[in-house]
Amino acid sequence: MAKNVVVVGTQWGDEGKGKIVDWLTDNAQGVVRFQGGHNAGHTLVVGDKEYKLNLVPSGIVRAGVNCYIGNGVVLDAGHLLSEIDGLEAGGIEVQSRLKVSPGCPLILPYHSELDKAREAKKNADAKIGTTGKGIGPAYEDKVARRGLRVYDLFHPQRFADKLAEVMEYHNFVLTQYFGSAPVDYQLVLDQALARAERLKPMVTDVSAAIYAANQAGQNLLFEGAQGTLLDIDHGTYPFVTSSNCVAGQAAAGSGVGPSSLHYVLGITKAYCTRVGGGPFPSELDIDTEGTPGYQMFDKGREIGTVTRRKRRCGWFDAAALRRSARINGVTGLCITKLDVLDGLKTLDICTGYKLDGQVVDMLPIGADEVARCEPIYETLPGWSENTFRVKRWEDLPVNARAYLDRLEQLCQVPIDIVSTGPERDETILKRHPFMV
Ligand code: GDP
Ligand code: IMO
Ligand code: MG
Repeated sequence: MAKNVVVVGTQWGDEGKGKIVDWLTDNAQGVVRFQGGHNAGHTLVVGDKEYKLNLVPSGIVRAGVNCYIGNGVVLDAGHLLSEIDGLEAGGIEVQSRLKVSPGCPLILPYHSELDKAREAKKNADAKIGTTGKGIGPAYEDKVARRGLRVYDLFHPQRFADKLAEVMEYHNFVLTQYFGSAPVDYQLVLDQALARAERLKPMVTDVSAAIYAANQAGQNLLFEGAQGTLLDIDHGTYPFVTSSNCVAGQAAAGSGVGPSSLHYVLGITKAYCTRVGGGPFPSELDIDTEGTPGYQMFDKGREIGTVTRRKRRCGWFDAAALRRSARINGVTGLCITKLDVLDGLKTLDICTGYKLDGQVVDMLPIGADEVARCEPIYETLPGWSENTFRVKRWEDLPVNARAYLDRLEQLCQVPIDIVSTGPERDETILKRHPFMV
């Protein structure tokens, strides 16, 4: 029987989802994206080649694996086509293996203009630090039932009429509220319809296609973008992205029934990072050389893939993980970037917080409460040995194993995989998600 595995980030994104999805494709015939858009940046390293993917699922690098973009993804068609061109120029066949749902809401140029104008108008401490890609405004249009979808591209007259109506509204907001320049209607229309021609052969009923793949015995991976603490409902609202990034969204965002999802893998960095604004209780100073925060930033190469911003870094937060593990129904964890901690004398783990005089053992819901949380730390000894590229659990230093064992205990979920380097095979397997 076919098996379906959901891969989600359990922190604030950039946990290493792409690397692990690519690694897992040796047991899968298809990879499905189900939310987010080109705000995602997933880096894969295979041999001496590095691939940076935003919209194309991380299965594309493995020959023969089919890739699906589900209805939950907001699609910038121009970005998708240039990503495809880049991959194909590097010798990877994409168009025959990629299927795009007609239900995907389109990101059009006025969405990123609105995104940037809104951020610019906010006071410094209220800025979300979005990627500026138009993700939020595109999801708003979807929920407001005025959005244009991939499907609409193939009905040009109707597309033109709907676009005129929606652009009248958005250009009013851009010019009258934000004082920005309007976006040119004819340009948006011509560009969109030209792209439709190239998209057309890839547009497929993704829900039906993945059902058929499963019926034919194919294993599928559902690749999450962002992370649970950036989820629109469960994250540190309003400092979040505009989609659900939790495992449950794999069903709604691709059109598969929840009972067909068999295993949820929670990708979790051995420490924490966050890009953009918002509270981060276990955050460390990343600017002072010789400090643990600097080591995480420097050795972990914590620079955002999409926006090139520095990622904020901090200690592992088990109290946040507890919430993520429950919300996602995580079956097993994959701890990534363990090697980045090599050489630290001691390691702190946040086990709970002091909040308004009380001790709490789980990340609170409101961003203002999270901002008032003072972390409570437990300190473990570090290890001086190398874990970089280690491929067997037995070969890890004793203190590294003790650190992982403690994380497992605190998060109340088994660690099934450990990643010790960016390359596909720099991975320790304890229990295989497709074989549980
Ligand atoms: P994603 O958005 O969750 O796919 O993660 P990103 O690709 O944005 O960020 C993770 C970064 O860490 C990438 O540059 C990966 O190549 C790298 N990476 C992934 N796993 C490991 C690991 O175990 N060790 C090290 N040193 N780097 C890793
Ligand atoms: P991957 O898939 C890390 C963050 C942005 C910002 C907030 C809202 O690579 O893990 P948005 O443009 O989505 O409206 O921005 O979310 N953000 C991410 N942070 N990794 C990502 O994706 C992210 N996608 C969005 O920095 O704080
Ligand atoms: Mg990323």
